[in-house]
Amino acid sequence: MLRFWLFLGLCFWIFTTSGWAAKRYVGSQVCADCHAEEYQSYQKYAKKAHSFAAVKKMSDHLAPAELRRCYRCHTTGYGEPGGFVDEKTTPALKNVGCEACHGPGSAHVESEDPKDIRGTGEQIRKVCVRCHTKERVEAFRFRPLLYGGAH
Ligand code: HEC
Ligand code: HEC
Ligand code: HEC
Ligand code: HEC
Repeated sequence: MLRFWLFLGLCFWIFTTSGWAAKRYVGSQVCADCHAEEYQSYQKYAKKAHSFAAVKKMSDHLAPAELRRCYRCHTTGYGEPGGFVDEKTTPALKNVGCEACHGPGSAHVESEDPKDIRGTGEQIRKVCVRCHTKERVEAFRFRPLLYGGAH
């Protein structure tokens, strides 16, 4: 019995110290506090900053289940812990925000440590195919971020 409790304690320790427990989506507005320049160009130039509008426009013509299928690519973190739920519950996550590429930001916002956020082009490029076709991503080869995140 003691071994069981020791095991459970170990699992809990790993869970809390590894940061898995803490990583949640915070919304792009929160990033603006420290990355004002990136935020401003994103708001101004990235179509992602308005990606929910396309879904909303269609909402009268689609069944709720069909509509939810759009969320995976047109919002931030849909279906993941702390991600988009619906427009009312999580308005800050309704567009495709910083964290769609950089990953959930809560741990990084607390620590301000670059290690707590997905930072390099190589790592980030792997996530594009979650929403864009492979052909489209290959065409992004040249400075991809400049277009997708506009910074
Ligand atoms: C409280 C301040 C603060 C907030 C809020 C913040 N960051 Fe940072 N961020 C930093 C600091 C400090 C660095 C490291 C110094 C630097 O590279 O400018 C950094 C670095 C980064 C990097 C570079 C990582 C690397 O490997 O070089 C990325 C990407 C990043 N932040 C994304 C975000 C995103 C996305 C958000 C919102 C979810 C966010 N940050 C919110 C302070 C913050
Ligand atoms: C697999 C991911 C994915 C799903 C699911 C998805 N979309 Fe999209 N959608 C995209 C991407 C990526 C683009 C941008 C295409 C590009 O520029 O390469 C886009 C573009 C659009 C556009 C054009 C926007 C513009 O400004 O021109 C509309 C409208 C749209 N989607 C509506 C929807 C609706 C409605 C649904 C649900 C029925 C949906 N999408 C589901 C990925 C998706
Ligand atoms: C379409 C994906 C995408 C989105 C959306 C995005 N970024 Fe980035 N970001 C990148 C990529 C890719 C890099 C890595 C650039 C490199 O390796 O040269 C990057 C790099 C960064 C860096 C490191 C310094 C720099 O400018 O190179 C910061 C800070 C950052 N992003 C913050 C943000 C913030 C804040 C937002 C939202 C307002 C955001 N990003 C939205 C893809 C994105
Ligand atoms: C969570 C889904 C998602 C991810 C991940 C994602 N995108 Fe997008 N992206 C979209 C959607 C949706 C649009 C279309 C928004 C609209 O027009 O309403 C879009 C638009 C674009 C566009 C159109 C041009 C513009 O003006 O904004 C480019 C280029 C792009 N993304 C590049 C990228 C790159 C590069 C990556 C990876 C670093 C990436 N995207 C990751 C969903 C995503």
